[in-house]
Amino acid sequence: MRKPIIAANWKLHKTQEEATAFLNDFREKVKYISEVEIGLGPTFTSLETVAEGTKGTGIKVCAQNVYFEDEGAFTGEVSPGMLAEVGTDYVIVGHSERRQIFGETDRAINKKIHAVFDHGMKPILCIGETEEQRADGKTESVLRNQLKIDLRGLTEDQAGEMIVAYEPIWAIGTGESASPEDAQAGCKFSRDQVREIVGEQAGDSVRLQYGGSIKPHNAEELMSQPDIDGGLIGSASLDPGSFAEIISITEELYK
Ligand code: PGA
Repeated sequence: MRKPIIAANWKLHKTQEEATAFLNDFREKVKYISEVEIGLGPTFTSLETVAEGTKGTGIKVCAQNVYFEDEGAFTGEVSPGMLAEVGTDYVIVGHSERRQIFGETDRAINKKIHAVFDHGMKPILCIGETEEQRADGKTESVLRNQLKIDLRGLTEDQAGEMIVAYEPIWAIGTGESASPEDAQAGCKFSRDQVREIVGEQAGDSVRLQYGGSIKPHNAEELMSQPDIDGGLIGSASLDPGSFAEIISITEELYK
């Protein structure tokens, strides 16, 4: 059985001081959790704070972005080796905000995924369609095209170990999550694409997260879908109470 993973994407929120305050509260709230893998995704400057503050707890450290080169004249970028050095376990790659605001392409995302694996970490690859693409009935072709390029050159083992987050862009930060049926359909379709592009075994083991306005009140119906193996959570992860509640709800489903 695939172990669910619930990860926080703090985006551009929380100073080191605020991250420490979060941890002091959060650690206590999730200390009995055993069936759910937990990840925290702070900004680059708080990665080490979170790595230190979660030592011995099993909580995973997630970076929000990476560059694919090891070093060089790339002003403003951070390399995979640097992320690994401060204790990063997972790297979120291809988030829709990176794609839309910073013009990240699927080719660059593919290179980032390889770089993450080369440095002993695992990617959380985000894919998803816009509102317009959805209205035009293009959801499946968008997901297929993203995955085709993003997963290029991965081995079965690598693809099986990664996490793919299906995040419909219209559901992110809007307070309006996808229906459980749509979220399940997007995750199932993505899993089938992994099967087709990489192989059966990879499709069986890859973990699919849903992301987009997950809150304590809708967590149960979303997290109980057969092809949803966890969630990537923005706004509701900023508060230790609501994030821990989503994790506890998921723990109950898997006990
Ligand atoms: P949200 O963000 O939970 O605030 O919708 C999710 C994400 O962007 O990963």
